[in-house]
Amino acid sequence: MVSGTRSFFYLGITVCSLFLPGVGFLPVPGSRWRSSYKTPSLRPPVVLVPGDLGNQLEAKLDKPSVVHYLCSKKTDSYFTLWLNLELLLPLIIDCWIDNIRLVYNKTSKTTASPDGVDVRVPGFGQTFSLEFLDPSKRSVGLYFYTLVQSLVDWGYKRDEDVRGAPYDWRKAPNENGDYFVALRKMIESMYEEYGSPVVLIAHSMGNMYTLYFLNQQPQDWKDKYIKSFVSLGAPWGGASKCFRILASGDNNRVPVINTLKIREQQRSAVSTNWLLPYNNTWSPDKVFVSTPKANYTIRDIQKFYQDINFEDGWLMRKDTEHLVYALTPPGVHVHCLYGTGLQTPESFHYNSFPDKEPDVMSCSDGDGSVNLQSVLQCQRWQNQQKEGITLVELPGTEHIEMLSSVTTISYLKKVLSNL
Ligand SMILES: *[C@@H]1O[C@H](CO)[C@@H](O)[C@H](O)[C@H]1NC(C)=O
Ligand SMILES: *[C@@H]1O[C@H](CO)[C@@H](O)[C@H](O)[C@H]1NC(C)=O
Ligand SMILES: *[C@@H]1O[C@H](CO)[C@@H](O)[C@H](O)[C@H]1NC(C)=O
Repeated sequence: MVSGTRSFFYLGITVCSLFLPGVGFLPVPGSRWRSSYKTPSLRPPVVLVPGDLGNQLEAKLDKPSVVHYLCSKKTDSYFTLWLNLELLLPLIIDCWIDNIRLVYNKTSKTTASPDGVDVRVPGFGQTFSLEFLDPSKRSVGLYFYTLVQSLVDWGYKRDEDVRGAPYDWRKAPNENGDYFVALRKMIESMYEEYGSPVVLIAHSMGNMYTLYFLNQQPQDWKDKYIKSFVSLGAPWGGASKCFRILASGDNNRVPVINTLKIREQQRSAVSTNWLLPYNNTWSPDKVFVSTPKANYTIRDIQKFYQDINFEDGWLMRKDTEHLVYALTPPGVHVHCLYGTGLQTPESFHYNSFPDKEPDVMSCSDGDGSVNLQSVLQCQRWQNQQKEGITLVELPGTEHIEMLSSVTTISYLKKVLSNL
């Protein structure tokens, strides 16, 4: 274990600013933009939908066996499984992976935690679990904090007219049916309570969850309950970095985290497989992974899974690829905000496949995580629905930073004040 706050802080910053899609550690907000705003009078209630890795998870253990003598076999109560930086340190990470990984059942096409591991999502309807990923290291693990705090400065109240909709981001929507029922109920009750349709604000993979949700609702329900959908950094057509994550794991250059170990968790998460690129965005002939023996395109995904020795992944992909593949228009006004101007890895070359780190073969424009061509898929809805689609470019804005950027916050202010 690490001792002292200094090394923690260092680890925190390193892990956090670079760690995986959908998680970021943001500077404490300055007051420079806050003071210039007036409180809007009529505020639509707001629901926040986080991205992959974007809210806390808790676990309780009563396991038949453990992978290492250091690991706990049984706990009396729930503890924070994500995010607790202590659990990602060498050796301890083995325990963590054996608790957070999902086990796939080929027959039922569903996933479950390993025997004796009970994972739950804390704080549905509240904001804490997506404002701060690490409840004990608040200044380090900031995610939605700046955005929520801005709303509060404009007169919103946490857990009342601004609420979070955290979920089990390891899974795809096909295994989160209860979540969508709860989300629908929460939106309806906020509408009744505050007398206004709701504004949905989603980040990263949360946008695909939101699109799936909206696609399931009748148009008259959406007309009544949804005012608009503010979409931040959506990987509508998938993200090419998922090829790398599945092949060799991705610790985002955090040396303390072993990539081949974190790969086990990353592969077992259905959502990683769901987010592999789609041919609705990329040419089916585009090479994403090149090795001395083969080139892999979207058409070669099954072979890719065989060659990385993870054939369950192909089944997970088949189970989930239809969920939002058609990119059916959401049927509500969408504000599509996207970062540009950052080198965003698009294809990878492996000299040794798949257990060694690749070289980035090419980059696209984007926000550093989500390729521009993927986030721009919201453009297609401009001619497909009568509700408006507004595109807002955020030049030079990184995938996580866009949640707290001055431009995003002031745009949000306009949306929420009907300006
Ligand atoms: C997998 O799912 C099938 C069908 O639901 C079930 O009968 C079987 O027991 C499951 N296997 C395991 C190992 O849980
Ligand atoms: C595109 O992908 C879809 C779904 O994965 C598949 O059904 C279809 O055949 C693919 N089309 C081409 C041209 O590769
Ligand atoms: C992969 O594609 C490149 C570029 O088209 C080509 O030069 C190379 O021979 C291909 N590799 C294999 C193993 O097919």
